[in-house]
Amino acid sequence: MVSRSVRLAVIPGDGIGPEVVAEGLKVLDAVSPSSGLTFERTSYDLGAARWHRTGETLPDAVLDELRQQEVILLGAVGDPTVPSGTLERGLLLRARFELDHYVNLRPVKLFPGVSTPLAGVTTDDIDMVVIREGTEGPYTGVGGVVRKGTQHEVATQESVNTAYGVERVIRYAFEVAAGRPRKHLTLVHKDNVLTFAGDLYQRTLKQVGEEYPQVTTAYCHVDAATMFFVSQPQRFDTIVTDNLFGDIITDLGAAVAGGIGLAASGNVNPDRTAPSMFEPVHGSAPDIAGQGKADPTATILSVAMLLDHIGAADAARRVERAVSDDLAERAAVGERSTTQIGDAIAKRVSG
Ligand code: NAI
Ligand code: MG
Repeated sequence: MVSRSVRLAVIPGDGIGPEVVAEGLKVLDAVSPSSGLTFERTSYDLGAARWHRTGETLPDAVLDELRQQEVILLGAVGDPTVPSGTLERGLLLRARFELDHYVNLRPVKLFPGVSTPLAGVTTDDIDMVVIREGTEGPYTGVGGVVRKGTQHEVATQESVNTAYGVERVIRYAFEVAAGRPRKHLTLVHKDNVLTFAGDLYQRTLKQVGEEYPQVTTAYCHVDAATMFFVSQPQRFDTIVTDNLFGDIITDLGAAVAGGIGLAASGNVNPDRTAPSMFEPVHGSAPDIAGQGKADPTATILSVAMLLDHIGAADAARRVERAVSDDLAERAAVGERSTTQIGDAIAKRVSG
């Protein structure tokens, strides 16, 4: 076993963020020793409290420090006392753009024993990976507003799609699809209406696809995709889609696969020119913050994705297995607190 030290930045954030991150780190601590890993952790106080204190969201100096880290674990940001968008844009989106997280990786998988709102589906029916473009589309902040607050207000919010950006995310998606048993890649877009961007995605899919003859491809409009997520989720294996569509369909994916408390994600810079950032799909859940009610499973599964990213595949599989075993027995165990779930999974990982 090779021992290795990993510089890990931790951003607990707001609301339930710190609660779920504590459990994620507990599981990381449980799996590390036998995997030869040590984590040099630095915690960053970013989020609502800092914004209230200093007006800062993600200062340049902190961003520079983050760049020196190997990988980042984030809880969630956002708070009702902070104007909507301030932290989401200023911290989360800024980190994703500056650190070039062009792949937003979101597995949608139904684990055994987890109940889904869909009737008659089994774990074989819901097992997909959504690759959401992370640095372009309508999220770049291009656009503006004039005559604000008047009847003549004009607000534009443009979708930015570059040949370079589309190619790299589609290529990544083909790589992921090629490594999965079904080897099937679906492009989800809206090319009948968003004809310029949709056409760029379509042509690129075709072009890059020539290099992956083993991968079959399909196309699905985003509105139809929301229907099929519910009526025929088994249609999908690997999905590639733009930033906004990916944001929306993965919340639906989380809902059909057992809930937002289980949905993990990675903001990945596949070229490794900057650290990647792993986080649960959910937000800071102010409605349940501080009550020990948050499910830390999504964060723990994000830790497994983090381990995969740093090349610790064995450790990642152990965490996933521990989660899967815990989920299989959840119904029988009854209600548990955030810490109790974290303790139980950490125990399985060490045992
Ligand atoms: P949310 O995901 O925080 O909560 C939606 C619902 O799911 C709530 O009822 C909440 O209690 C529940 N929930 C979320 N995570 C849970 C968990 N781990 N266990 C059990 N239940 C859980 O989304 P919402 O309410 O739209 O946003 C709250 C704040 O979070 C906002 O400020 C929003 O902008 C921010 N946000 C931040 C994200 C991030 O940091 N990546 C992502 C999404 C939202
Ligand atoms: Mg979202």
